Amino acid sequence: MPDIHQQKILILDFGSQYTQLIARRVREQKVYCEIHPFNIGLDRIEGFNAKGIILSGGPSSVYDKDAPLISKEVFNLDIPILGICYGMQLTAHLLGGEVEKSAHREYGSAELIIDDDSDLFKGIVSRLRTLNSELRTVVWMSHGDRIRKMPKGFISIAHSQNSPLCAMSDIKRKIFGVQFHPEVVHTPKGAQIIKNFLFKICKCKPTWTMESFIDTAVAEIRARVGEKAVVCGISGGVDSAVAAVLMHRAIGKQLTCIFVDNGVLRQDEAMKVEQTLKKHFHMNLKCVDASQRFLKKLKGVEDPEKKRKIIGNEFVRVFEDEAMKLKNAAFLGQGTLYPDVIESVSFKGPSATIKSHHNVGGLLKKMKLKLVEPLRELFKDEVRVLGKALGMSDEIVNRHPFPGPGLAIRVLGDVTKARCDILRKADSIVLEEIKGAGLYTKIWQAFAVLLPIKTVGVMGDERTYENVIAVRAVNSVDGMTADWVRLPYDLMARISTRIINEVRGVNRVVYDISSKPPSTIEWE
Ligand code: XMP
Repeated sequence: MPDIHQQKILILDFGSQYTQLIARRVREQKVYCEIHPFNIGLDRIEGFNAKGIILSGGPSSVYDKDAPLISKEVFNLDIPILGICYGMQLTAHLLGGEVEKSAHREYGSAELIIDDDSDLFKGIVSRLRTLNSELRTVVWMSHGDRIRKMPKGFISIAHSQNSPLCAMSDIKRKIFGVQFHPEVVHTPKGAQIIKNFLFKICKCKPTWTMESFIDTAVAEIRARVGEKAVVCGISGGVDSAVAAVLMHRAIGKQLTCIFVDNGVLRQDEAMKVEQTLKKHFHMNLKCVDASQRFLKKLKGVEDPEKKRKIIGNEFVRVFEDEAMKLKNAAFLGQGTLYPDVIESVSFKGPSATIKSHHNVGGLLKKMKLKLVEPLRELFKDEVRVLGKALGMSDEIVNRHPFPGPGLAIRVLGDVTKARCDILRKADSIVLEEIKGAGLYTKIWQAFAVLLPIKTVGVMGDERTYENVIAVRAVNSVDGMTADWVRLPYDLMARISTRIINEVRGVNRVVYDISSKPPSTIEWE
């Protein structure tokens, strides 16, 4: 079995907003990597056994009073190093070069002129296509400081019109620095630069494939769990479903999944989960219909944060009741992802490993359960690839994100079964039409919202006074910022006509044209 962790890259984080992107770019080349805070100490850096180290960018200046620094000894470990932006300035600073404030902060696209295309920049620009035999490529700059004097042993390997020094290398020690950001899409050849670092300089092998991940993860789960039983909560989202299928591949019937119907799920959701996990994968799955219990608690509650708390607390209670019934459960399976566990300077310490919606910390203590988190090393899009590799359908793995509190925060105001039913129907039409137009996988999230107002309409010859549905479709990379999708008018027309004709109690449909910020994706 290939050990996917033998060929790994260590990314030291100095607080750049792009650090996770560096990791994405490395993994796209099928090389495993981990992000750690800059201050993990020389011993851990050495003990990590990396094939290469990447120093991220960051907002600091090396001369700041509390500038993030590392031991100079990192450069003597005989491990190739690539410093990006702040990482390059730090390299220069620690090895005896000089860094200074640029006259102007450089931000945005710049044209890079490559002076040495032997290692890092190999194959970036074809010599045949160049004018005046200059090798030019576009890069993304974002820095305030620059290097005035390189350390001993370094040569300049690229410049731009504004900066005489945009990249430097010490070939002998395999230490490189780039002033620009190869990890962002605005540097079109950035992926090739990272690829060169990984394969030409660090001599990595591309062993990080989903197939090899599955082999390793299955062996690890088996070793950790032994003969014991595992209980796992299923939310209807992608992560918990993929985690469950992976654990099932490893330990089969030792795994029991619990799916709680909280009464605020999308149309046919419970049925789809059952079909996939029980019928297709033959899993031990317990579906608990707790919808009455949840709706009773939600009755009359209008405040969105109160709704969230009620649903979170109630979920834990139902889940605990069910888990307690299981004999000899010793582990709790969770679909925790890598972004949740990265302990990086930009994210201010270790983030909670248990999402608040699934806050089953009490259960861990009460039943003395230990956690199994087989997706801890993966990014969201890797989870999707993993799901496919495990034989899950596109429909499950490509699902849009769905909030834990479900339709309760999309039925604005009072949440009742009747209002949830109206929303479920309208929402399923929105999704059906968007899928029919081939746009579902191109959109981050699309859904319907039921507004807490009624408006006047006319149907046939009769005046109506009915509900309003708002349609929301947004594009986003991570849910932190979002823009509304310019859906084709004829698609919007079909959605509107179908909702008004097919969903009783709705006589008006509006489209949400707000971006985030200043709005949010959900209405509550
Ligand atoms: P907002 O509305 O904050 O949403 O722009 C950003 C992303 O998070 C989802 N969301 C939630 N997910 N529990 C969740 O599990 C919540 O309470 C919650 N609120 C919002 C939202 O669907 C979007 O993907």
